[in-house]
Amino acid sequence: MSVAKPLPHDAAALHVTGAARYIDDIPTPAGTLHLAFGTAQIACGTIRAMNLEKVRSAPGVVAVLTADDLPFANDVSPSAHDEPLLATGQVHYFGQPLFLVVAHSHLAARKAATLASVDYAEDTPILTIDDAIAADSRFEDGPRVWTKGDVDSALNTSPHRVRGTINMGGQEHFYLEGQAALALPQEGGDMVVHSSTQHPTEIQHKVAEALGLPMHGVRCEVRRMGGGFGGKESQGNALAVGCAVAARLTGKPCKMRYDRDDDMMITGKRHDFRIAYDAGFDGEGRLTGVDFTQMTRCGWALDLSIPVADRAMLHADNAYHLPAARITSHRFKTNTQSATAFRGFGGPQGVLGIERVMDHIAAELGLDPVIVRQRNYYAAMDAAKGPGTGKRFGGEHSPKPTTQTTPYHMPVKDFILHEMTEALLTSSNYHARRAAIAEWNAGQEVLKKGIALSPVKFGISFTLTHLNQAGALVHVYQDGSVHMNHGGTEMGQGLFQKVAQVAAHRFGIDVAAVKITATDTGKVPNTSATAASSGTDLNGMAVANACDIIRERIANCLAELHQTQAENVRFEDGQVFVGDRQMTFTEAAQTAYLNRVSLSATGFYKTPDLAWDRIKGTGTPFFYFAQGAAVTEVVIDTLTGENRILRTDILHDAGASLNPALDIGQVEGGYVQGAGWLTTEELVWDEKGRLRTHAPATYKIPACSDRPDIFNIALWDQPNPAQTIYRSKAVGEPPFMLGTSAFLALSDAVAACGSAFPDLQAPATAEEVLRAVKRART
Ligand code: MTE
Ligand code: MOS
Repeated sequence: MSVAKPLPHDAAALHVTGAARYIDDIPTPAGTLHLAFGTAQIACGTIRAMNLEKVRSAPGVVAVLTADDLPFANDVSPSAHDEPLLATGQVHYFGQPLFLVVAHSHLAARKAATLASVDYAEDTPILTIDDAIAADSRFEDGPRVWTKGDVDSALNTSPHRVRGTINMGGQEHFYLEGQAALALPQEGGDMVVHSSTQHPTEIQHKVAEALGLPMHGVRCEVRRMGGGFGGKESQGNALAVGCAVAARLTGKPCKMRYDRDDDMMITGKRHDFRIAYDAGFDGEGRLTGVDFTQMTRCGWALDLSIPVADRAMLHADNAYHLPAARITSHRFKTNTQSATAFRGFGGPQGVLGIERVMDHIAAELGLDPVIVRQRNYYAAMDAAKGPGTGKRFGGEHSPKPTTQTTPYHMPVKDFILHEMTEALLTSSNYHARRAAIAEWNAGQEVLKKGIALSPVKFGISFTLTHLNQAGALVHVYQDGSVHMNHGGTEMGQGLFQKVAQVAAHRFGIDVAAVKITATDTGKVPNTSATAASSGTDLNGMAVANACDIIRERIANCLAELHQTQAENVRFEDGQVFVGDRQMTFTEAAQTAYLNRVSLSATGFYKTPDLAWDRIKGTGTPFFYFAQGAAVTEVVIDTLTGENRILRTDILHDAGASLNPALDIGQVEGGYVQGAGWLTTEELVWDEKGRLRTHAPATYKIPACSDRPDIFNIALWDQPNPAQTIYRSKAVGEPPFMLGTSAFLALSDAVAACGSAFPDLQAPATAEEVLRAVKRART
């Protein structure tokens, strides 16, 4: 058995000893040159003249490239061809790359990059959502609107109604390893690129375009990233293309890494959102209809903003049945960094919208917010009896026995949050703690506590359906050792280890016999980004497929030699059993080799049953839903707004976990990152459009000391009803949304200060908590 074991990350020892190799650790050939971008110092306007004399004559500078020097395509966008590597006259944001310095050292390149004198004709930038609304500055012709039922009449006939708006900030990825690339020129004009990327095929593609080569002229390799979190789906393109072009023009290896400040100024972040809601409900807090208006700031270029905004719409329901709904999505174009993928990919923003509605309803009716949530959950599905017959908590009315559908008309068939919520309420002792907190708050002037539960139901699959495919390449050597490769990339999440466990399991061998190798576009082509949490789902299946092909060949060979049927050959415990004979896996591999059997195979997988219309918002975009719930308790200081998380309990659904240790690590990290987004992590742009929080001194991610003192995490270990690899579930992004409970708990603590709904905005920094305390008191 290799699956389901809590094995450590395959590179854990390398990580903690500093031996793990990242791009910047790869020994470079003599004569390697170093690159830095010179960037725009205004947010919007045109370049009248660019004087680069001082840059060119600075010590150590070899070359300075502008858009005119680029041999072929000047584009690093993932799809829309709207993102020049180097500006072509227009400036779109403060920090936009204008020219590229090539120098003998990293420091020389960076120093020289600051010496340009650029004459701009400055325009008034469009920076905020309000600016964009006023200027009607948007991508696409108008908003996207999805509807289910007659929301207007549902709202007009509702016994109760709440309206409100919640703003939520963006988020810096803060991967520990910044963006980096190294390009090595090859004979005949070919290029090898090492890139810290979640998407090697896109690097290959963009470099090929920039060099005027077919894709076969470029190979991209990535062993690991020091974190990606979505920030390396598209944002590595500029460095890789810059290095490749400079390497082509100089004939030398070229390397580039962003310093943290540059990384934060240049690259895209999470999309910030404003969500306005109008919700109708009955006297028990059950929704009758909701009208959401989602407004998002996409920045200056399209990047991945359309699918991000789509996913926010797709998660406007989170775990709740909306009998009637209208979701309107505005994708605004602004003079800021081009917002990009970030763990959850718009999902967290959509989820926070409906979670605020749940809290607002509970406040309006004076109900426990958990009970309002349970009453609005999708009906549980009892497989034997059909939909809608499962147990439902929190109210006497049982739902009608029809399959409930999402606002995009997909039936929800695998909803397990009723049972999970009950289990978590019990293990966290929620109800008793809630009563104790109320009592405590009644006796306290300065410190107030709060507690909240938030669930997550997250759709698994790329919403761009064709991306749900993966390939693998597996070799068995004649000594029985296995070389495994697939299209996924390792960014700390443990994908390689989980997939190696799958390979070991298929061959019945120890996972140590499986060599994990760097992702390489020359081994497995046409890969999708490692994203949408589907790395293991897709690549695990593709590797299983390749292993099974080889296993079958070995089985056939042995069956013939020993005059039995292939069905009688078993691979277990490092042994191969052929009828009543037994040999080691090594002996079996050797035998197959001597009998001239191919021990190498490619594997392939595509997710079945996906089809939807993203314009209309109807169909089945997801293979299944990953679910979970968290209870967080916080304390706030009502004089300063300072706050702490005291305790967190999480129950998360990873299906039949392939590796509970790695999955719990993902849940823990996801929660902390989600809580950071909604509390201390604040991005501030000044009126010039310059990001002021561009270093850890001003941008506060959670530190070790911010980890909850009591942090209980358990996995809901039930097999996935969908046919995934060993019935596991994707786990990378869903737990991020559990951090919402920290925000809701802060809101609960603030609510203890007065009778008005506190209307807490995100991020709930100490300043915002203080403002909300004042609002609650009025
Ligand atoms: N975990 C670590 N340690 N580092 C990361 O960069 N990225 C997250 C998540 N967990 C990330 C992580 C994101 S955004 C995604 S989409 C998934 O991992 C991608 O990997 P998977 O599909 O293998 O889960
Ligand atoms: Mo994750 S945002 O899908 O890379």
